[in-house]
Amino acid sequence: MTSWINFYDFKHSVIYVNARHRDVHYRTIAEYICAYVPSPAAHVLDYGCGEATSADLVAAACAQLVLVEAAPNVRASLTVRYAGDPKIVVITSEQAAALSKASFDLVVMHSVAQYLSADELDRVIKIFRTLLKSGGLFVLGDIVPPHFAAPAAALALLRFGAANGFFWAAASGLVRIFVSDYLRLKKTVGLSHYSEAAMLEKLRRAGFTAERAARNIGHNQWRMTFLCRADRG
Ligand SMILES: C[S@@+](CC[C@H](N)C(=O)[O-])C[C@H]1O[C@@H](n2cnc3c(N)ncnc32)[C@H](O)[C@@H]1O
Repeated sequence: MTSWINFYDFKHSVIYVNARHRDVHYRTIAEYICAYVPSPAAHVLDYGCGEATSADLVAAACAQLVLVEAAPNVRASLTVRYAGDPKIVVITSEQAAALSKASFDLVVMHSVAQYLSADELDRVIKIFRTLLKSGGLFVLGDIVPPHFAAPAAALALLRFGAANGFFWAAASGLVRIFVSDYLRLKKTVGLSHYSEAAMLEKLRRAGFTAERAARNIGHNQWRMTFLCRADRG
């Protein structure tokens, strides 16, 4: 395995300890995204959406939801899952880059930035800046700070499991992740980490006025979400 996209390109990624974890995870993410949808007429883009098993909740809260997923098998299963929902479109990263300018009210990228190099992140942030309508919102979630990332993630998963009836599966899932390609890829390809100040500066340089949200999207509050509005001009 040579890339994070390959790592995630399974029907059910090893990162979810069982189907319940996956479904509670995606429902939680969808509920957070719904809270950022500005109106029922909004056009929303979710970049690096993963298995997105609750995307129908987001679609119900907006006019159109574009799901962008780079992993081909995950994208194929999303296409099948949402074939009957006229509000949901599933596309590739390349297709997202070619979408009409100023066509989205909300762009979300959650738990993807750590898998991109700093230059790749700059490139996608620039694309989002052009895709957003004037006054639109870019929500950048699950940014991993440089310190204590692994113990914080393990603890957050165990707590999430305890609160949602899959504690023991979470404990054994941590062992499974430990022996999976995750740690090997972490060493060879790397994971990107940002302090709050570094990310705010990156977003400012990309032409956004940004602030850290009071809560991170999802179950790991050690990580950070940023709310970004495009500067005028
Ligand atoms: C942890 S999952 C996040 C899924 C979903 N957004 C969530 O919050 O659960 C990471 C996602 O990043 C995507 N990804 C990894 N590397 C990528 C890259 N270089 N370009 C685009 N997407 C990438 C994977 O395909 C996967 O869907």
